[in-house]
Amino acid sequence: MANRKFDFIIIGSGIAGLYTALLAKEAGSVLIVTKGSLDECNTKYAQGGIAAPIGHGDSAELHYQDTMAAGAGLCDPEAVRILTEEAGDRIADLIDLGVPFDTQFGTVALTREAAHTVPRILHAGGDATGERIEVTLSRAVHESRNITIMEHCLATEIMVQDNVAKGIVAFDSQTGSLIEFISPSIILATGGAGRLFKLTTNPEIATGDGIALAYKAGAEIVDMEFIQFHPTAVRFPGIPPFLISEAVRGEGGLLRDVEGHRFMPDYTPDAELAPRDIVARGTVAQMKKTGSDRVFIDVTHLVRKTITTRFPTIYRFCQDHGLDITKGLIPVAPAAHYTMGGVRTNAYGETNIAGLFACGEVACTGVHGANRLASNSLMEVLVFSKRIIERSKGNMKSPGSTPKDDIYSKLKKHNTTGIDIPLRLSRLQSLLWDDAGVVRSKEKLDEASLTLASWYETLGTPTDRPYYELCNMVLVGRLLIEAALIREESRGAHFRTDFPEPSHEWEKHIVFRNKD
Ligand code: FAD
Ligand code: SIN
Repeated sequence: MANRKFDFIIIGSGIAGLYTALLAKEAGSVLIVTKGSLDECNTKYAQGGIAAPIGHGDSAELHYQDTMAAGAGLCDPEAVRILTEEAGDRIADLIDLGVPFDTQFGTVALTREAAHTVPRILHAGGDATGERIEVTLSRAVHESRNITIMEHCLATEIMVQDNVAKGIVAFDSQTGSLIEFISPSIILATGGAGRLFKLTTNPEIATGDGIALAYKAGAEIVDMEFIQFHPTAVRFPGIPPFLISEAVRGEGGLLRDVEGHRFMPDYTPDAELAPRDIVARGTVAQMKKTGSDRVFIDVTHLVRKTITTRFPTIYRFCQDHGLDITKGLIPVAPAAHYTMGGVRTNAYGETNIAGLFACGEVACTGVHGANRLASNSLMEVLVFSKRIIERSKGNMKSPGSTPKDDIYSKLKKHNTTGIDIPLRLSRLQSLLWDDAGVVRSKEKLDEASLTLASWYETLGTPTDRPYYELCNMVLVGRLLIEAALIREESRGAHFRTDFPEPSHEWEKHIVFRNKD
């Protein structure tokens, strides 16, 4: 590649990377670096939809109140105001870009999800919202002349001098070489860390790389103890968890235990439509009570056509695994779903390192607090990406220093540490699931902390993508475990049996920063 200096470098190609690139290209040259193919990301699996207060009887104020209530006292009010007031305009942008939202009676169709007081979720292709967004945005990116795309290229380092980001180092998986790219504006859009857990709705890319890179570069990392567990991921034997959208409950789906009892009203008056953390804990409690590893979603009372047209992806997936959901119950259990914490940013996506921005699931803007309201994630990306590009235009001086030639050109290294990467990865995922999952305790967290600290010491120099990812996951796992140990209370998605109640004292955030 001849040019290795760009006005903007964007790491990641989910909704955050692609949407930001489309805005940035109007201001200058853009490089997207992404570790798989362009469409490998969490975004394309998003089902339920995207929240915006645009329906009859809805308002930014109502959306604000719902988001604040779900966040269990830790949302940043200013960030939530911005989200809910700018959401409508960002939907208009997506429609202009060609995202084919579903319509009903000549206007966009809106559904309801848990903890939203009114229907406010736009969707596309029924339950294929993320896929429709990803396809539309990637087509627009491919058609843009000002955007260079580097696929199969994993960012391994953010270069920082005197607290100013200067560029990145990336590992080209196809050639085995490390390459430097230079830019005054580096935008992390690397998504979350769901793959830290044995059971997760997230695809393989969700290894928390951006959090690890930012931490190593000196950025502040906040709220890492808050991992959202989705209550309803399918449990078919031998099949990785597959999401059954919250919108299924929004449309009337009921949760039943293994004995057929509808149990959520026993835990909360909002029953199936309580915030996600409450439904996840209710589900775990009921599984324990009945001695089963699953509960069920029942949609057999809904009109067949509603199921097949609103949830075609879910319907087909279950059908392919031998279950007709219009007739039989869907076996489900909780799975890790969303990383609420991440790289701390202000309302313009700026981190504490000049020239380094973060948006999407890798970032913590303060919008989600201790528990994200369903379908606020995709909207958060749009709102804050837009603000990043507005702000980073101020950085548009020509990029400084010259990139070095390939740092080690096509020099394939070998893993000499003797670590069996797949085995270590699966142990890590089991450890996090068992010791830092839906229900936590000091005893378990202590154990996990010691294990991770010892693994961290034995990590060598990564030589390929799986090894880089493992190193990142061990680091991010440590941040998560340490934060979960420090927070001696239960709040939102963080629940500890030894401190089962929220504490006034803990209405604050845990921030990590690497002093080295
Ligand atoms: P991603 O879409 O995950 O993209 C991250 C990108 O970064 C990927 O391209 C990845 O390859 C790349 N990357 C990562 N590390 C590196 C590296 N080191 N170098 C280079 N590239 C890298 N939210 C909603 O609001 N509504 C929903 O209905 C909804 N449904 C969901 C359903 C599922 C099954 C899942 C898993 C999530 C859902 N979410 C939903 C959450 C939402 O989809 C994600 O939070 C959002 O898509 C994140 O977008 P992103 O661009 O930040 O990250
Ligand atoms: C879902 O469809 O249940 C996921 C929605 C979300 O994670 O916001």
